[in-house]
Amino acid sequence: MAAAVAVRTRRLESGRVGHVGPRRLIGPAVPPPPRAKRPRLEQLEKEKALELRKKHVAPSLGLHYAAVKPIKVAYGRGQYLYDEWDEPYLDCINNVTHVGHCHPKVVAAGVEQMSKLVHSPGTKMADSYTQQLLSTFPDNMGHVFYVTSGTEANDLALMIAETVTGHSEIIVIDGAYHGHSKPLVGLSSYKMKEKDDSGISPNPHAWIASNPDPFRGKYADPATAGTQYAGEVKEMIDSMEKEGKKLACYVCESFPGCAGQVKLPEGYFKAVFDHVHRAGGLCVIDEVQTGFGRGGEFFWIFQSQGVKPDIVTVGKPMGNGHPVAAVVTTKEIARDFLAKRPDLQMNTRVTWCLWR
Ligand SMILES: Cc1ncc(COP(=O)(O)O)c(C=O)c1O
Repeated sequence: MAAAVAVRTRRLESGRVGHVGPRRLIGPAVPPPPRAKRPRLEQLEKEKALELRKKHVAPSLGLHYAAVKPIKVAYGRGQYLYDEWDEPYLDCINNVTHVGHCHPKVVAAGVEQMSKLVHSPGTKMADSYTQQLLSTFPDNMGHVFYVTSGTEANDLALMIAETVTGHSEIIVIDGAYHGHSKPLVGLSSYKMKEKDDSGISPNPHAWIASNPDPFRGKYADPATAGTQYAGEVKEMIDSMEKEGKKLACYVCESFPGCAGQVKLPEGYFKAVFDHVHRAGGLCVIDEVQTGFGRGGEFFWIFQSQGVKPDIVTVGKPMGNGHPVAAVVTTKEIARDFLAKRPDLQMNTRVTWCLWR
């Protein structure tokens, strides 16, 4: 559940909630829907809801503000979450609802689609959306695999890389997070560096390169940090080849998040891509967290490094909260993968692909 900051409010004589907080800075709260229309479950008392949650929900789902005042989020509108008393809270960290909670256009599109057809691969995605999505990518990208989460997208990207190259080894950076499936937890040193009691081991094919952080990392000269960090990737490739192993792919976020919100040094991806391609590997860029314009000037942050990845994974804000994600790749890679594994092009929910 997203964390939130309470907006100071006062109850007006009419019973309506009015803001006394920084309205001009954060904009007006969108009016809540009439109470009677709320689902019955949302009318559970907070204490009862907390009790049920403690009893039945896995504790891995952390409770925000547990010690102070947990918020029972009943619904969201725009940048606000509301509790069961229509009290608004400014949602400060939600990194999924890109255009705000329940944006009217998103809701209308969802209602329209659900009233036409829900489960049959293709429909709208096969035409206008895919074309629009591909138009934001470099011209080498011509194929989209739709999936339902960032984890699923990264899993598929690994499978594509391993299948297409016939190689097994994977280079990731220190502090990375790429998803919660077993192979991805094993690659994400943010979650796990060494074997722990959980029984999940680090991915035996993972090679962990330094986090290319030009501020806190070991190379700080902006003129050389990019090539120095990339040089470590090259040394890693040389070491694995000495052991008779071959690189399937290099996987990295274009603005590493869990690794510290790192702005990559100039020239880093360019130099890494050269080393990886010379070794016969593919370059996979994870834009699950950062994509869809979050980099400001660039729609995809990898564009700021002037490179063309082989595979890009996208997700989180893609559906504004709906479970949609994708693997975007070149026509050649997709064709090669599908020729070798024709059985792997579908999942139950959404998967459709279009050549450009
Ligand atoms: C960079 C990155 N990749 C992949 C994922 C996994 O995405 P999902 O939670 O949709 O499976 C996340 C999730 O936080 C992420 O931040």
